[in-house]
This record gives sequence, structure tokens and C-alpha cells, in this order.
Amino acid sequence: MGLVSADPGSPGAAAAPVLEVDDVHLSFGAVKAVNGVGFTVGAGELFAVIGPNGAGKTSIFNVLSGVYRPQRGQVRLEGRSLVGLRPPAIARLGMARTFQNIELFTNLTVIDNLMLGRHQHLRYGTLAAMLWVGRARNEELRHRRRVEEIIDFLELAQWRRMPVGLLPYGVQKRVELGRALAMEPRLLLLDEPVAGMNLEETEDMARYILDIRDELGISMIMVEHDMGLVMDIADRVLVLDFGTPVAIGTPAEVQRDPEVIRAYLGGEALQEPPSDSTGETTGETTGETTADPAAAGEGAPA
Ligand SMILES: Nc1ncnc2c1ncn2[C@@H]1O[C@H](COP(=O)(O)OP(=O)(O)OP(=O)(O)O)[C@@H](O)[C@H]1O
Ligand SMILES: [Mg+2]
Repeated sequence: MGLVSADPGSPGAAAAPVLEVDDVHLSFGAVKAVNGVGFTVGAGELFAVIGPNGAGKTSIFNVLSGVYRPQRGQVRLEGRSLVGLRPPAIARLGMARTFQNIELFTNLTVIDNLMLGRHQHLRYGTLAAMLWVGRARNEELRHRRRVEEIIDFLELAQWRRMPVGLLPYGVQKRVELGRALAMEPRLLLLDEPVAGMNLEETEDMARYILDIRDELGISMIMVEHDMGLVMDIADRVLVLDFGTPVAIGTPAEVQRDPEVIRAYLGGEALQEPPSDSTGETTGETTGETTADPAAAGEGAPA
């Protein structure tokens, strides 16, 4: 597959991390949205961030992608400091994201939305296109081919010439993922990729996310309320509560962490262990995925 753009290293391997986040603080007036958060994301790792509503998950994404500048702390993408850079500069360094609320041009087609994702790769602007038609045209063709590869990869072919606004919600979420992939990111941020999806759409999206990790080798951070999904597919999980890190580890580790159970779950286990088991939950069981985005929000601050 022509899309392969990176070396799919083993998750959490000793190789240099793709992302390093160190002691990040972000306040909005009296609200401490992010309070001393630090973690690393390894090459080819699928890292999840969970926590109740208002825990600071989207705020972390906004710090990473340059929307907000943290009052304190460091963020490094492949060794380069990102703090103080504007979002377009960070995107050019290799970070792409999808949004909690889909952000697409609804009256443009799937292809055109994905072409916009490639905008940062366009070296020849309108003037160049006028002066140097041949080269600009070749580049346009190269981008179109790349976009068609992504359309194949995400199985969007049947909708490629349709305006995005007419597509089912689950397909729109997939188009948004395609727009982010079109940027050929080194790190992909997914803010609630299955929110509002039915079970089938959720399972499809889970498969695409795993394919992005395993076939394209792209490192990802996923914010998600669907605990079944997180525990099934994430390599490691960071648990936040009121902006503060509560635990970090593999799905199995965080599920049995007493701090997590107390602070985040109000005393209930994240996922019921199988009744016939001796208590070992692997986090690998695919049948447990729930499509209920509200399931994790119980007991959360409004
Ligand atoms: N631009 C802003 N101005 C003021 N307060 C903000 C802003 N953005 C976020 N906050 C506050 O920061 C806290 C964290 O919000 P954030 O959106 O990061 O939470 P979240 O974990 O993504 O929640 P959800 O699961 O509901 O999406 C909340 O108290 C929120 O009200
Ligand atoms: Mg959010």
C-alpha cells in the first residue's frame, strides 16, 4: 500500500518518543484546565486520554496543537519544542487532529475536503501555477493520487464526489479522519472519534484506527469516553480528573488502579471482568466494546 509513511515500531519501544509533554499547566482565569500533565507517546503508539467531562482532555489537545499557549511546561514533537508556535506551524511539523465536533466544509465533496488537508504540502501557489503550469499541474496530480489512496484506505470511494454535508454522521467522522491523514502526520490527535456513533460505526472506526497504527505506523493520541473501545485498542492510557493526572499505564493497569476506581469511577470497576475468570482482564476482548458515549460521563461534573 502506497500510503505507508513511517516505520511501525513496536508500541512503547525504547526508540525516542514522538511526543514529550512535561508538566503542562493551563488556566482559564480561576479554572485550572490542565494541572501538571506530563506523558510521552512512543513511535507507533496508540495513547489514550480519558477522564470525566471537563477533565481537560480537549484543552491538552489545544495546547499540543498550538491553539492555547500553556502558562508552564514543555511540549516536544520529535525533539522540537512546540510551545509558542502557531497551529499552522505545528501542523507543518507533523501534527494533525480531528475535532470533538466535526470540522469539515459541508458543501464541498469528500475529495475536496481531503485536498484541503493537503494544502500545507502545496508548494506552488496560484502565481506559480500561472507562471509554471507544468510543475504545478504535476504536483496537483500527485496530491490527487495521494487523496485517492486515502479514500481507498478508509473505504470512502462510494461517497467521494458527494458533498460531505449529505453523508451519514459516521461517514463524516471518517472523512474528517481522512482530512487529517491527508496531512501525512507524524502524530494524529483524535478527539472523541466514536462519539455519537452506533455500534457498527464504532467497530468500523476502531478498525481504521488500528490500521492507521499497524499499517501506517502513525502515532496517535485518542480522547474518548467509550471505555470499551479505549480498553480494547489503546496501548497506554492517561487518566485525568479536574486537569490533574490520576494514573498512567496499560489498560489493564489503569483499570485496577485504586486511585482511578476511586477518583474517576466512583468506586465501580472500569470494565467488568468476565464472570468465569480469575480476575485477570486483558483489555483485548473485542466483544466488550460499547457504543454508549455517555457511559463514562456518569458522576462527572457538569
Ligand atoms: N476557552 C476556554 N475558556 C474558559 N474555560 C475553558 C475554555 N476551554 C476549556 N475551558 C474549561 O476548562 C476545563 C476543561 O475543559 P475541556 O474542554 O478541556 O474538557 P474535556 O475533558 O475535553 O471535556 P469533555 O469530555 O466534555 O469534552 C473545563 O472546566 C472548561 O470549562
Ligand atoms: Mg473535550
